Amino acid sequence: MADAPLHLLAMSGSLRAGSYNTAALKAAQELAGEGVRIEIASIDDIPFYNADVQAKGFPEPVKALGEKIRAADAVLIASPEYNYSVPGVLKNAIDWVSRLENQPFAGKPVGMIGASMSLLGAARAQYHLRQMMVYLDALPINKPEVFIASAHQKFDAGGALTDETTRGFVKALVAALAAWTRRLQST
Ligand code: FNR
Repeated sequence: MADAPLHLLAMSGSLRAGSYNTAALKAAQELAGEGVRIEIASIDDIPFYNADVQAKGFPEPVKALGEKIRAADAVLIASPEYNYSVPGVLKNAIDWVSRLENQPFAGKPVGMIGASMSLLGAARAQYHLRQMMVYLDALPINKPEVFIASAHQKFDAGGALTDETTRGFVKALVAALAAWTRRLQST
């Protein structure tokens, strides 16, 4: 019997329209094999974390993002590097979601991509992100680690991922995340 299709929830740590990280997620959508569907969730409307706001009730966009993560079989996060770490908007979204009851990242398989114009491809940020996932009891896959260095040379002006080697890495990551997810679901 064929496996049920997997639903991956993707999030980009960059809000800008021309984001290489969002473009990497679009490439992942395109390169996902049969049986894997990737939905890209927006974090644009998540307000700044404030415990006083939380005490009055979680904002709707936070609840909605938490529900999407909970409903997904796995999560795929693409993050730029800002000052050697993850952008505040991504940290903020994760911080909000982490305060929800039945914390949505717990037990969730997670894959990561980083894209940066530098030579390290957002690697330092990705290790910070991995550390956050440890605290949240997510189950991030170890490899392949996808660091898209010199991103401005790997995508065309329309945001298509044109570098064949990088396409291979992204494809391998999605396949590995799908295999990891199926393995966890079968235990
Ligand atoms: C950056 N950038 C950057 N790049 C990097 O490799 N290491 C870093 O520490 C930083 N720091 C940094 C701080 C701030 C405030 C900005 C705005 C940018 C460059 C950044 O990685 C680059 O602009 C990416 O292209 C941003 O990702 P998106 O928006 O293309 O997905």
